[in-house]
Amino acid sequence: VPEVHPNLRDAAQSPGGEALGRLVFETLDVDEAARRCSVVFTATPHEVSAEVVPRLLDAGVEVVADLSPAHRLRDPGEHARCYPRVPRDDALATLAIYGLPELTRDRLAEARLIAVPGCFATAVTLAMLPLRELHGVLWDRITVDAKTGSSGSGNAVRAHGMHALRSTVVSPYAPVAHRHGPEIVQSLRDHGVTSPSRPPRLAMSAYGVNAVRGLSVSVYLFVEGEVDGANLRSAFRRTYRHEPFVRVQAGASAVIPLPDPKVVIGSNFCDVAAFADPDLGHIVLIAALDNMVKGGAGQAVQACNVRYGLPEDMGLDALPLFPA
Ligand SMILES: NC(=O)c1ccc[n+]([C@@H]2O[C@H](COP(=O)([O-])OP(=O)(O)OC[C@H]3O[C@@H](n4cnc5c(N)ncnc54)[C@H](OP(=O)(O)O)[C@@H]3O)[C@@H](O)[C@H]2O)c1
Repeated sequence: VPEVHPNLRDAAQSPGGEALGRLVFETLDVDEAARRCSVVFTATPHEVSAEVVPRLLDAGVEVVADLSPAHRLRDPGEHARCYPRVPRDDALATLAIYGLPELTRDRLAEARLIAVPGCFATAVTLAMLPLRELHGVLWDRITVDAKTGSSGSGNAVRAHGMHALRSTVVSPYAPVAHRHGPEIVQSLRDHGVTSPSRPPRLAMSAYGVNAVRGLSVSVYLFVEGEVDGANLRSAFRRTYRHEPFVRVQAGASAVIPLPDPKVVIGSNFCDVAAFADPDLGHIVLIAALDNMVKGGAGQAVQACNVRYGLPEDMGLDALPLFPA
């Protein structure tokens, strides 16, 4: 284990090599998992999750929280367009509960399959949720600009991930049609954020930046006529006043005044902020989170805490590492 995960050296085995029991590494056996576990988290490639999740549920595992996108999109056509190499059980996808507690807390208590949201989708959806209180938003003209560190694409070795190519640059890798777009639109529709008379159209571009962890998203929208900045900011404060993991930033004087991955790394926080250019009717929303925590594993734990009625922040009370 320490050869692959040096940070887990003493968590997995003693210097003498015997297992310590806190972390056990085993080949996946679904029947054995069903015998010993109530909950299984699958942090596996899309194709593996599509194959293994139904088997785990059939074998009797009570809850599976899948971090892959295999069961996030309900519409089979959208799924086939975004993930053509991932055949999955469409009926299971309709049963899956989207694991964004700020949006689906009420439904998670019944979940057998939790489809943990994508990292960018989490940040964009949390940035946009308070807009359901706003009138006149032009939902058919949403633009998202998304930037991520290198850990967003996992541990596979790829030529374009080499330090020599990746460092000191901003690299566009999905200028159009990012696969988290349909996931965001599905959530906005499901939760009445967008107006039924104006179906959302969301254009999303993604870039790799010179960082390991963390992501930042900017969402650009227009409203009909002028926009009231104070109204916008109070919608954010109202929406998130009781949320343990979403922090609204007001751009006040601080060392880092706006949402920035730098101040959330290692934590389950998502920082959000909203700005308005009143005369142009232009809104800019900014969000930042750690793609491996609120954008991945932390969110999966948060959703399972809600599922079992545990304190929502159980196991998630780490403060951000700073500076990181
Ligand atoms: N990275 C992120 O920021 C992020 C955020 C949210 C969601 N996700 C999603 O989470 C999933 C994992 O992402 P990742 O970045 O952690 O990818 P990763 O670094 O490539 O890790 C994938 C893991 O799955 C294991 N695996 C592969 N095939 C398997 C099989 N047949 N049975 C059991 N285990 C198998 C791999 O083991 P070996 O190393 O031994 O091959 C590896 O540990 C993906 O679906 C991804 O889309 C990732």
